[in-house]
Amino acid sequence: MKNIPWWINEVVYQIYPKSFKDSNGDGIGDLQGIIEKLDYLQELGITMIWLSPCFRSPMVDNGYDISDYRAIAPEFGSMEDMDELIREAGERGIKIMLDLVINHSSDEHRWFIKAKTEPAYREYYHFLEGDKEPNNWRSIFGGSVWEKVPGKDEYYYHTFHRKQPDLNWDSPSLRREIIDMVRWWLDKGIAGFRVDAITFLKKEDFSRNGIPDGVDGRVDVGSFGRDVEGIGDYLSQLRKEGFSYRPCLTVAEAYGVKEENRKNYIGDEGYFDLMFDFEPTELDFEDTWLHPRNWTIREWGQQLMKVQMETQPYGFCANFLENHDQPRAASKYLRGNAHNPEAVKTLGAMYFFMRGLPFLYQGQELGLVNFRREKIEEFDDLSSYDLWERGLEEGMDPDRILAMLNLRSRDHGRTPFPWNNDRYGGFSQVRPWLAMTREYPEANAEAQKKDPESILSFYREMIAFRQKGKWKDCFLLGSIAPLESPNEVIAYSREYGNIRLYCWFNLSDKPVEETIPGDFSGEGKKEEDEGNPEIWHTGPWPRISGEKVFLAPWQSLILRR
Ligand code: GLC
Ligand code: CA
Repeated sequence: MKNIPWWINEVVYQIYPKSFKDSNGDGIGDLQGIIEKLDYLQELGITMIWLSPCFRSPMVDNGYDISDYRAIAPEFGSMEDMDELIREAGERGIKIMLDLVINHSSDEHRWFIKAKTEPAYREYYHFLEGDKEPNNWRSIFGGSVWEKVPGKDEYYYHTFHRKQPDLNWDSPSLRREIIDMVRWWLDKGIAGFRVDAITFLKKEDFSRNGIPDGVDGRVDVGSFGRDVEGIGDYLSQLRKEGFSYRPCLTVAEAYGVKEENRKNYIGDEGYFDLMFDFEPTELDFEDTWLHPRNWTIREWGQQLMKVQMETQPYGFCANFLENHDQPRAASKYLRGNAHNPEAVKTLGAMYFFMRGLPFLYQGQELGLVNFRREKIEEFDDLSSYDLWERGLEEGMDPDRILAMLNLRSRDHGRTPFPWNNDRYGGFSQVRPWLAMTREYPEANAEAQKKDPESILSFYREMIAFRQKGKWKDCFLLGSIAPLESPNEVIAYSREYGNIRLYCWFNLSDKPVEETIPGDFSGEGKKEEDEGNPEIWHTGPWPRISGEKVFLAPWQSLILRR
């Protein structure tokens, strides 16, 4: 990168507003609730909040279906609350990043309502005339991507739910509307955008049918509708006329970017500052969550490092373990060891010291685990409902489907935040919109705050160490390279100026032996370094002997030589 970007010092914390804190006793989290908890966030050490959508919405997909981009959902509060949040957060050194959902709107957006009668708005969406579905693509939430317009031989296109019609970016007026809206929010003091589902923006030729990949005869829209040729024209305009209007940090939800296009998405000339990479995130299933896949820590580590190495020439990674679409990281990556705090800490440290901006998701800092639901009715997530239906269609045993959803449902990350051990975890005075995790009487913020050995205390210290400690420059700006390990250990080195750090994270329940790379133990090594490594670690004091380091089960070790 030519210059050091201003946002390199940020640590981003994602809030799912519906589940963070309810301030007015309706069981639904809200903006005033977030304001109440700003001190907690400041103490944790985060510097930016990514707020999942809080705009006016029918809430079919919990706000990812926006009916007014310039209004706040009444269940979350008012525009005054938003202004107050921006102000109050700012006073604590915390910036606000919004979720920009611009691949689609809600079907209750006035543009879509007008599109039925006014040609000027009709071009904002994708309508096709005909008496049957124009192709066999399956939407992300199941069924056809085409929805029939009642009473007409006409269909409209939706990548996600039928109540989330896709916007037509071929329309210059639509692009203008979105860009104006982006600028309007930047004028309000917003510091960035997480940009939703952005690789779907440009549509593939609708006349192309795909080879069916399911018993429904359809093909997943995701398998060929992403990062389509020509998308760059729209994204460049969005950056030039929208994002560049004021300094802001943009992060793309970028499933399916072709490797050769990475440099167009990020970096100095990229459409965005950062992008989330999902290949390592999705290594636990085959085509859908119904079909799990065996995976190993070594394989996961290799995938994470591959993303790092491919990104490094152009920019920085957006590092994350969890988000509102993912299961809890402890359950997903530690499997049987999800309840072991030492394992959870090392999992957190492993991704936190990688090169790039760290993102954490609400509750991750408490080591929250997945929720077991006993019947399909206990789920809320659209994807879970879809896969339930599809599993039945495939002839799967219902218990097996439930087991798969209990691994992967998007509801795991959406259970209300456990603040204390009061009824409903201090999240609300009344029964929350979605059930609390079972663990909350013990696993909650208040209890962990008092305990210096807790996961929360660990996260706080780790954030401070990365952002303000003696190796800060190396963590924030240094290069990264993978380190070989024969064990279930994810390892890498970081380098900046004369600082070289070796980082090992033992993600197994076995003690392991690792080799300190040879180039620092042989000739040319400075005398004063001999036997005098500087160390940061979790667990017991690590044993170092010559070129060997010995890690206890679940131990993290960073060593400067
Ligand atoms: C993104 C969001 C997800 C949402 C979808 C449709 O993938 O992260 O939660 O359902 O887009 O907006
Ligand atoms: Ca509320």
